[in-house]
Amino acid sequence: MHISDANFEPGSEMIMPDGEVHLWRLDLDKVAVAESRWRTVLSQDEITRADRFKFARDRQNFTATRALLRILLGSYLTRNPQQLSFTYGQNGKPSLDPSNGAAEVQFNVSHSGARALIAIARGRPLGVDIEQIRENVDCESLTRRYFSRCEQDALSALEASEPCKAFFRCWTRKESYLKARGAGLALPLHAFDVSVSLAEKNLLLATRPDAGEAALWSICAIEVGEGYEAALCCKGRDWVLKSRWTGDFTQSTRR
Ligand SMILES: CC(C)(COP(=O)(O)OP(=O)(O)OC[C@H]1O[C@@H](n2cnc3c(N)ncnc32)[C@H](O)[C@@H]1OP(=O)(O)O)[C@@H](O)C(=O)NCCC(=O)NCCS
Repeated sequence: MHISDANFEPGSEMIMPDGEVHLWRLDLDKVAVAESRWRTVLSQDEITRADRFKFARDRQNFTATRALLRILLGSYLTRNPQQLSFTYGQNGKPSLDPSNGAAEVQFNVSHSGARALIAIARGRPLGVDIEQIRENVDCESLTRRYFSRCEQDALSALEASEPCKAFFRCWTRKESYLKARGAGLALPLHAFDVSVSLAEKNLLLATRPDAGEAALWSICAIEVGEGYEAALCCKGRDWVLKSRWTGDFTQSTRR
């Protein structure tokens, strides 16, 4: 069954081996409509948060994404999704509360436009970011403001045909690192360099002032289809990405 089916049920006892990172892609156009079902999975504070959204579409997207996060985590942990509880770091990064008995299972979520990504791993911090490519963004001034000198030089050396795409490629790679670290904008954006290349494998090029930090993390680009850019950052180099959006989940990870 595909995760974007409104009646998606992952089944119980999904396995998360050490060294694997599972990435789930949600098609929000398909899942958001089942709002009443997803609401039954949320905690009271999440329902309160959902109800504060001004636009119905934003409320539905948040509700579906948070409910599917709970359903997936519940399945990996063999726990009732509704009973899972989260804690929030200093800068708002959610993680499983140790009271769930499985604090080593870590996750991160990102949403943009009609897509959401949920990344889950065991025993390693991770961050994921997806951005819908928007042509109405002033890429040049944002590049000057937020990107490091090395990134600015690399972007200006690229073919001018798709400047916006390259900008969002760089943005998602930087954001995935920020999100993995959980530091938000407390970590200065000029304090690390990512590659904007399509070919390079290791996309975290340098960290400052601690140059050794760069070797502790790895960033990879994620293919999410036309009109979007996405990236994933995880601690360590020894992990394998398993994508979970093709409906082959049952064969490949169920016990
Ligand atoms: C949350 C944050 C880290 C990213 O926000 P965003 O890109 O707008 O949103 P995303 O959809 O990618 O991520 C949101 C999710 O990340 C998670 N999150 C929240 N705070 C987080 C943090 N400090 N670290 C990691 N993840 C966080 C939550 O699960 C959240 O989902 P929810 O809204 O459904 O609860 C935000 O704090 C932020 O301000 N980032 C910096 C933005 C920026 O200027 N980046 C420049 C990049 S070059």
